[in-house]
Amino acid sequence: MNLEAINRYAKSLIKEAGHHIRASFSGRIDIDTKSGANDLVTNIDREVEQFFISRIKQDFPNHRVLGEEGFGDTIQSLDGVVWIVDPIDGTMNFIHQKRNFAISLGIFVEGVGMLGYIYDVMRDDLYAATKGEGAYCNDERLPQLGAIPIRDAVVGINACWVAPNRYIHHEPIIELVHQCRGTRSYGSAAIELAYVSSGRIDAYMSTRLSPWDIAGGIIIAQEVGAIATNMKGEKPNLLEQDTFMVARPGLHADLLAHHVRLK
Ligand code: IPD
Ligand code: CA
Ligand code: CA
Repeated sequence: MNLEAINRYAKSLIKEAGHHIRASFSGRIDIDTKSGANDLVTNIDREVEQFFISRIKQDFPNHRVLGEEGFGDTIQSLDGVVWIVDPIDGTMNFIHQKRNFAISLGIFVEGVGMLGYIYDVMRDDLYAATKGEGAYCNDERLPQLGAIPIRDAVVGINACWVAPNRYIHHEPIIELVHQCRGTRSYGSAAIELAYVSSGRIDAYMSTRLSPWDIAGGIIIAQEVGAIATNMKGEKPNLLEQDTFMVARPGLHADLLAHHVRLK
């Protein structure tokens, strides 16, 4: 398999999809809800996913595609070549802010993440990694991440976790908020993974993410030495929704040991 050809192809597909999303702001955007009132989807999410799937199926008929909006294959294993795509990660931001959303794509070969992409559509920043060859933001190589203590860390968390909730004990999260340098919440798991990978924040965690939220990002994160697991410290789940955390080495172990207590 010519991975470099697939890499070039995937990048140009992502750029074309990004162009379509930017152009969509001058047209009509229809908003629907999915599992609940705050789980949003638009005609653009659907169109972009269909664009990816039709192109991939046309040019790589043996590859399978898992997409958030359900136009792709039903995936029960990562056998063969599997593309995992989130056409717009951060749909609420897409609708409300018209920025801070991304296209996320990960390409797995026999279960191994080989190519990862996060495209910050409005900034035109493409984060990309090939397994074993490092990670880039556009043409700039991202440096390896070193360890830092919690007191120097900027941590990506959702404000929901400092209030009583059904997923995670909030008291150790309150301690974390007091101990760390600062917190941020961008509303797009893919952008938060890109920011951990590029050192803009030092950790990110979420109690419920799906494979398409993390597939591109974990390949990029691993290339710069970040540690990505679920909140039990196990390998990220690429077939089902699960908890998720990613952080600089050392910091990840501290967060897991002292601040993450699942219910
Ligand atoms: C969502 C975003 C958000 C995360 C949610 C995801 P979507 O993805 O990544 O930051 O907190 O859990 O579902 O629905 O905008 O693609
Ligand atoms: Ca998503
Ligand atoms: Ca999405």
